[in-house]
Amino acid sequence: MQILSVVSECAPLVKTGGLADVAGALPGALAPLGVRMRTLLPAYPGLAERLEGARAHAWSTPFGAVRLLEGEAEGLDLILAQSPLYDRAGGPYTGPDRRDWPDNHLRFGLLSWLGAGVAAWGLDGWRADAVHAHDWQAGLVPTYLRLIGPEAPRAVITIHNVAFQGMFGAETLPALSLPQAMFSPEHVEFHGRVSFLKGGLAHAERITTVSPTYARELLTPSFGWGLDGLLRHRASDLEGILNGIDTTVWDPATDRALAVNYDRPRLKAPNREAVCARFGIEPAPGAPLFCVVSRMTRQKGLDLLIEALPALLEEGAALAVIGSGDEDLEQAFLAAAAAHPDRIGVEIGYDEPASHLLQAGADAILIPSRFEPCGLTQLIGLRYGTAPVAARTGGLADTIVDANAAALRSGAATGFLHAPDDVADLAQAIRRTCDVHRDAKAWSKLTRKAMSHPVGWDESAQAYAALYRRIAPAAA
Ligand code: ADP
Ligand code: GLC
Repeated sequence: MQILSVVSECAPLVKTGGLADVAGALPGALAPLGVRMRTLLPAYPGLAERLEGARAHAWSTPFGAVRLLEGEAEGLDLILAQSPLYDRAGGPYTGPDRRDWPDNHLRFGLLSWLGAGVAAWGLDGWRADAVHAHDWQAGLVPTYLRLIGPEAPRAVITIHNVAFQGMFGAETLPALSLPQAMFSPEHVEFHGRVSFLKGGLAHAERITTVSPTYARELLTPSFGWGLDGLLRHRASDLEGILNGIDTTVWDPATDRALAVNYDRPRLKAPNREAVCARFGIEPAPGAPLFCVVSRMTRQKGLDLLIEALPALLEEGAALAVIGSGDEDLEQAFLAAAAAHPDRIGVEIGYDEPASHLLQAGADAILIPSRFEPCGLTQLIGLRYGTAPVAARTGGLADTIVDANAAALRSGAATGFLHAPDDVADLAQAIRRTCDVHRDAKAWSKLTRKAMSHPVGWDESAQAYAALYRRIAPAAA
């Protein structure tokens, strides 16, 4: 079975968050199940040069001339779209000034249009049995497929984060090559604007999201960001399939970014020392080292953590932070580090190897998200024997077993959950973590259990394969 994945980022080639990890890991996870996944990605600067055995095809599109490059890089089977729209220095979504590119509707309209076109018309004899579109950037794939007609392959769209919807003015309709008739609430219109994600949710054959709990949360007004009504309408076509992590990339026994490799939590110590040395911090004897590896946005609840820091400091714990995002949050963490330089260390930025070292060196990772469709850093934490301390929401609730008295006794506990958007309960979870950490035996039991928790793709890849077979029953 042949699947075309359409996505705006894909690890390790281009990554701003978990979407890239998922897009990069799925093809490898699906291959043993007889699913061949090719990935259509914009040719951001520098990517085309990394393709091996590239074959070029010239296409003319409503967005201008495009070259499609087929080839392989990093073990991925890629189709890169070369267009002046992608050939500029900056991020996939924002320019060097951190603002959204003003022509993102064209950048991702083109990506979606190409996704539908390659799937429906094929490329050099290759045809897709079904299409997997990710998030708003590929949101118009199902819409363009609908316009091509009933003979086009079916699409599944995955919501990685409903807070990002790709909303643009009504005047963009002609440039997107969408007929006026589609500017209605059954199609792409959302409160007088064009919504890419709504187009996807309205026209895809099936909808998935990245955890079972988020699939339920999405149906409620507080989590649905205005799309809960449509999602309730399509509830029978919606399912939550939990993300995994690539356990070959994230393997403490072989990870080259670590000070020392390990396969049980008690051997983490040299990594802990490396983190403390790097950040110039040290927890009090017996107290844990916490870390944060995160985008700094409201979603991630890091403002709540700033408020809960007194609890962490009173316990004698230390905190190493790496992240970037909203300036006020960056400033708040820098100020906390300046006020407590021996206990709090902060690096503003995006640093892949540092994220590996922090996960290996910390005793616990803090993830106080207000909402979290799945979350990958808790899965990485589990794999690295680093207890996740996280909000009970979305995929965090689905993947962490809270260390309540019963779970501690039975040995099922893998981390600490707190009520979302609740500073007092977050502070309490931090204190609970410090309590268990002081009890060396209990801590060892919890972190060993965490390390044994399955975080790979096996089960979820099977769920995706079954879904593709359902929407493309004729395929082998
Ligand atoms: P989201 O996609 O919402 O940002 P996820 O938890 O799904 O959250 O995925 C985040 C991914 O990005 C993880 O692989 C995490 O390790 C990585 N990451 C986040 N912030 C940083 C950072 N500052 N430096 C390096 N990696 C980071
Ligand atoms: C989004 C979500 C995150 C999820 C990731 C990959 O960025 O915020 O929770 O893990 O997508 O699906």
